[in-house]
Amino acid sequence: MNIYDNEEFFTSYIALRNGQNYNDLLETPAMLSLIGDVKGKDILDIGCGFGKTDSMLIDMGASSVIGIDKSEKMIRKAMAENSRDRIEYMVMDAEDITLPSNAFDIVYSSLCFHYIEDYSSLLRNIHRMLKSGGMLLFSQEHPITTADYDGSFSSDNRSYTFSSYQKEGRRCSTWFVDGVITYHRTFSTILTELVQNHFNINTVLEPKPTENAIKELPRIIREYEKPSFLILKSYKI
Ligand SMILES: C[S@@+](CC[C@H](N)C(=O)[O-])C[C@H]1O[C@@H](n2cnc3c(N)ncnc32)[C@H](O)[C@@H]1O
Repeated sequence: MNIYDNEEFFTSYIALRNGQNYNDLLETPAMLSLIGDVKGKDILDIGCGFGKTDSMLIDMGASSVIGIDKSEKMIRKAMAENSRDRIEYMVMDAEDITLPSNAFDIVYSSLCFHYIEDYSSLLRNIHRMLKSGGMLLFSQEHPITTADYDGSFSSDNRSYTFSSYQKEGRRCSTWFVDGVITYHRTFSTILTELVQNHFNINTVLEPKPTENAIKELPRIIREYEKPSFLILKSYKI
């Protein structure tokens, strides 16, 4: 079962998203700063969650958005809260996407790739579904976070735990509940596999919080010590 369909996890995650959070203050603005003009674009959102960004993309002028997510609870919430005429939500595993080839101008994915075991196979499938010259824009937890990181900061916010960076593969951690499975890949693997799967790399971003974000959520200043997110913008070649 996808951890996002675990009742306790889902309730805690939604509560997190309803307050001041890193997604709204840091990650989503950074992603949208890179996406460019979406007017008339057909977009696939992989791991769309409850669809908050998908309704924004339609409001920004996208021609169509397909949002897929493995979690039934997420897709139910997306349909209830972020439906639009030109959005279609589907329960679908990112590791087994069966949508048409050459169908999308943009494949967008926010904080889902670190849940994916076979990154290379996902990239091959995305390449197939993108139109010629199409954009892949994704964020994931930063590899210094996915390595082995227990979230501890010193009281002065200037040091943190970090280990096992070169040991790639499955991690089992506690976030709201025990048994949250993610996959660690090094920065070099993430970039090399993109290139080997015929994407060029346009932008690499480790987003930093704005003054306003720090005012809204003071602990986000820790992002200056350890970035939580890695964002990559690339194009199909
Ligand atoms: C951190 S949430 C982000 C949700 C959304 N992209 C957003 O930014 O609001 C990660 C999402 O990835 C989804 N996910 C995890 N593994 C997946 C998989 N194998 N296939 C599709 N979705 C997956 C989860 O169900 C969850 O909705």
